[in-house]
Amino acid sequence: IASLLKSSAESSAESSPEIEVNGYVRTIRKQKRIAFAAVGDGSSLQPVQAVLTPEQALSLSTGDSINLRGKWQKCPPGKAQTHELQVTEATRLGYNDATTNPIQKKYQSPEFLRTLPHLRSRLPFNALVLHLRSQVIGSITNFFNKEGFVQTHPPIITSSDCEGAGEVFTVSSNASKDSEQKSDDGEVEHFFRSPKYLTVSSQLHLEALAQSVGNVWTLSPTFRAEKSDTPRHLSEFYMLEGEMTFVDDANQVMDVIENMLSTMARDLQGSHTVQQILQAKSTQTSEEAAEEGAVTAEELSRRWQGMAQSDWPRIQYAQAIETLEEAMKQGTVFHFTPSWEEGLQAEHERFLAEHFGKGQPVFVTDYPIEQKPFYMSKTPGRDRTVACFDLLVPDLCELIGGSMREHDLSAIQKVMQERGMLRTLTPEQQAAGESEIPDHKLYEGKHAGTLDWYLDLRRYGSVPHGGFGLGFDRLLCYLAGVGSIRDVVAFPRWYGRCDC
Ligand code: 4AD
Ligand code: MG
Repeated sequence: IASLLKSSAESSAESSPEIEVNGYVRTIRKQKRIAFAAVGDGSSLQPVQAVLTPEQALSLSTGDSINLRGKWQKCPPGKAQTHELQVTEATRLGYNDATTNPIQKKYQSPEFLRTLPHLRSRLPFNALVLHLRSQVIGSITNFFNKEGFVQTHPPIITSSDCEGAGEVFTVSSNASKDSEQKSDDGEVEHFFRSPKYLTVSSQLHLEALAQSVGNVWTLSPTFRAEKSDTPRHLSEFYMLEGEMTFVDDANQVMDVIENMLSTMARDLQGSHTVQQILQAKSTQTSEEAAEEGAVTAEELSRRWQGMAQSDWPRIQYAQAIETLEEAMKQGTVFHFTPSWEEGLQAEHERFLAEHFGKGQPVFVTDYPIEQKPFYMSKTPGRDRTVACFDLLVPDLCELIGGSMREHDLSAIQKVMQERGMLRTLTPEQQAAGESEIPDHKLYEGKHAGTLDWYLDLRRYGSVPHGGFGLGFDRLLCYLAGVGSIRDVVAFPRWYGRCDC
């Protein structure tokens, strides 16, 4: 339907040869001598208006799936639509029991709709967001192809916790065969000999692949067992990750990100899907506008414009803290007092995004070492910070995290030893009489298997490299102006919820 509406808007022909439309009856109005049906198919908010005879319309009701044939004709001036379908043949394909269908035409809250994930994506706006998802992937794929990045498929089941935050889901056995898999002492035998984990990030594997084929990227499912009950966190989400070799400055990675997202925004800004999403925002009801995180059409088009332009601000963490402290002195109220040690809270990130970005995304760089994972290299010439960045956007806060990776074997070994990630000890730990850590106790309390293989990447032909991970569902939330990440993912999973 989107392409039919688009092509007829561009054509001056009075009518076209017989066409066929497949879709769902959005509304139907039956009069004595004539009937009108609005038909949609999820590609557009705007339906096709079909004109039927009373006989053709007799058995049709709202929600039915139908196949229509007819002439696509220009309407006389004064009608809401420019074209309508003069139906010659109507076939109902599937009946909708409108009285029991839980999706109703009246306002239904996001919370209620989340109880119906298998049906709610039929709502025209939700269907548009799925179209947008597919188009963003298409645009970014083109970008990477042009830039010579290789798309790869890193594993989902892993033996380590990349981020070291202990937020991993465990994969251990074949549940339906557990009883047969008990060993002599009654213990369930692990399918992979020891517990494995659903990936929290593909980064470590991408680092291996980047050293084989050059710059790589992936868009991959990612899992985090964090109990965060926020509109920005899911237990299962998609992360878009890139890893670049032979780069020695985080600015080179930030350049690629900025280029990728601004190219995508310019590509899609004028598309039918984005225009329809903007239209939905400009006609939203007072109930929709009152939903948590709801944005106006003006705010949403500002987001697209801000992303489409380049030269996004890049500020250092130290400057961010100073700015926040200064803002507090000037009267801005924060729930948490900003400080170098405590790190940036969501409210601080929101403030920084607006203050520095003015509608554009903002990079904050060079965070304190203690706040970041083991793999980041130090900011050249400095001791307290790492060569990393977060990309912040208004409302959504952190959209991307990335860094240069420590590629020197002894430097990364030292950090991993200090963080209890290796069996062998630092000379200081040995001098203090600490005993070597057995394999099964590695990273105790968190969850990580041996990362010896990761050290091989530094042993054999190590190169300066860096990369990033973008929360793909957060990006969609931002670009579609949806208040919660639970509503841009068709079947969302979060703490306590995985129902369909
Ligand atoms: O900042 P994070 O944890 O970075 C990494 O995992 C790196 N290893 C990525 C890399 O350098 N290859 O996660 C990256 C992004 C975040 O900025 C955020 O947008 C998103 O992933 N993210 C989530 N999105 C939805 N739900 C969650 N629970 C998320 N946790 C992180
Ligand atoms: Mg992060």
